[in-house]
Amino acid sequence: MYFLALLLLLWSTAFPLSTANPHNKTLLQLLHEADAEADPPTFSTPLPPSLDPWYRPPFTYDWRRTEPGQVLKVRRAPLLNYTVPNALRAYQLLYRSTDSNYDPAWDVTTVIIPQRHARCPDPSSNSTTSTTSSSSTPPHPHPNRKPLTPWCAHALLSYQLPYDTCNVDASPSYGLYLGDPYGEIADALSLGWFVAVPDYEGPRASYAAGVQAGHATLDGVRAVLQVAGHFGLRLEVAKVALWGYSGGALATEWAAELSVQYAPKMRIAGFALGGLTPNVTSVTEYLNGTGGAGLIPQGLMGISSQHWDARRWIVSRLKPALREVFLSVKKMTAAQAILAFQYQDIYSYFVGGYDDLHTRVMQNMYDVDGYMGYHGVPRMPVFIYNAISDELSDIKDVDALVDRFCGVGANILYHRNTVGTHTQELVNGRPRAFAWLRSVLDGSYDELYSTLGCTIYNVTYNIAPWVR
Ligand SMILES: *[C@@H]1O[C@H](CO)[C@@H](O)[C@H](O)[C@H]1NC(C)=O
Ligand SMILES: *[C@@H]1O[C@H](CO)[C@@H](O)[C@H](O)[C@H]1NC(C)=O
Ligand SMILES: *[C@@H]1O[C@H](CO)[C@@H](O)[C@H](O)[C@H]1NC(C)=O
Ligand SMILES: *[C@@H]1O[C@H](CO)[C@@H](O)[C@H](O)[C@H]1NC(C)=O
Ligand SMILES: *[C@@H]1O[C@H](CO)[C@@H](O)[C@H](O)[C@H]1NC(C)=O
Ligand SMILES: *[C@@H]1O[C@H](CO)[C@@H](O)[C@H](O)[C@H]1NC(C)=O
Repeated sequence: MYFLALLLLLWSTAFPLSTANPHNKTLLQLLHEADAEADPPTFSTPLPPSLDPWYRPPFTYDWRRTEPGQVLKVRRAPLLNYTVPNALRAYQLLYRSTDSNYDPAWDVTTVIIPQRHARCPDPSSNSTTSTTSSSSTPPHPHPNRKPLTPWCAHALLSYQLPYDTCNVDASPSYGLYLGDPYGEIADALSLGWFVAVPDYEGPRASYAAGVQAGHATLDGVRAVLQVAGHFGLRLEVAKVALWGYSGGALATEWAAELSVQYAPKMRIAGFALGGLTPNVTSVTEYLNGTGGAGLIPQGLMGISSQHWDARRWIVSRLKPALREVFLSVKKMTAAQAILAFQYQDIYSYFVGGYDDLHTRVMQNMYDVDGYMGYHGVPRMPVFIYNAISDELSDIKDVDALVDRFCGVGANILYHRNTVGTHTQELVNGRPRAFAWLRSVLDGSYDELYSTLGCTIYNVTYNIAPWVR
């Protein structure tokens, strides 16, 4: 005990915590260092986050005192232009955020520069005769600024991947080395958009913890905007949109409703949300006994990583013979958990069954992190698309969420698809999500969509190639 205290004391005198704000200066240095690595790039095999020392906040100053969104670390991710089509270069940022308990926390995001950006003028040179096609663009109103070239979209999409697991080693910053799971990052890059993919569950892989995910997503955007000018994004014109489906929509929706309080000055052009899960307890009841039952242990371990009293309760109530099986989700991806637990009665893992998951300590956790629609009303355009017969979440919960927001002046386009399952709507909704995102990012939203109030349609889109 005394030895430990002594060691800590020595450690803190060896590295006195600086209360000054050093990263303003060092951020540029960090960027230059990251770029110096670039040519030639270092192709070392990436390590999973649990083993990679880069996934730690800096210890030479008190990063907790920095502002949310402050970039604390930058590095190149040199292999991602091989695994993600249409990527020119990629960087990873470690940044300050705020967890579900409103304590300082950190997260990681991956920012990918589109290949098309290689043809955009270099922001560090100020020659006005920069490109071949600038003759076709009208004279720029600000002669000191370079005209925008048509292929330089100057847009940022924050794309929240549904990774649905309490295993930190399945975080997108590492998983992207295996490729772009839905091809949507590649499609967004092909439009010339910068794409940021945050590990919004954070270092504890807090799957299903709404506040953590929303903060991490918003601060990921702040972090990217802090450095993207250096990568050639024209910050004074760039628009920002956020998009996610299912678990990715969870992060995106929480970002939307938290933004009015947590990031009120952030200029966001719009949020696209598909396959929403507004109520964590009703989703649990829906999933129990189905093919997707494995998402319940993932969700319980994920959300309770932000609520240690609930975590202790969960572990203490597991039947001893089943405890190890249940806790093995910590090492699984979403797909592995779905296979391992499919069609199981998850409540039967608990001594007290269903009631064990609805005690006061559990309800407190759900109340903080599990119900959408109670933290604020999005002040930016929102597109929501959902299959009416979504089997993961009752469409009535989504209807109620939309109603709530529409009652206080939100601007929402809501598509209820008469065909398809949860998984099919991912595919069925994709072209509509892209069309909508294009409009908010290129400024044509006002011409193409209603800018006032809510527009609700029952639609029928059936392009998913498989039928259940
Ligand atoms: C950077 O540092 C300068 C002076 O040290 C200060 O005026 C400025 O506000 C800082 N900028 C940021 C973004 O912290
Ligand atoms: C990836 O980037 C590196 C360095 O920037 C480059 O040498 C390599 O050709 C790129 N690979 C692909 C597939 O674009
Ligand atoms: C940009 O323009 C300024 C003023 O005209 C000049 O001093 C500077 O050298 C130029 N920079 C580059 C990179 O061309
Ligand atoms: C969530 O769903 C449960 C179970 O269906 C229901 O009892 C509860 O009222 C819902 N909570 C909210 C906040 O909508
Ligand atoms: C959970 O699923 C099992 C298997 O389908 C079913 O027997 C059980 O009644 C369900 N429990 C609850 C509380 O819905
Ligand atoms: C959509 O269909 C439901 C029945 O499934 C109906 O109650 C509702 O009024 C319809 N909404 C619109 C906007 O047409």
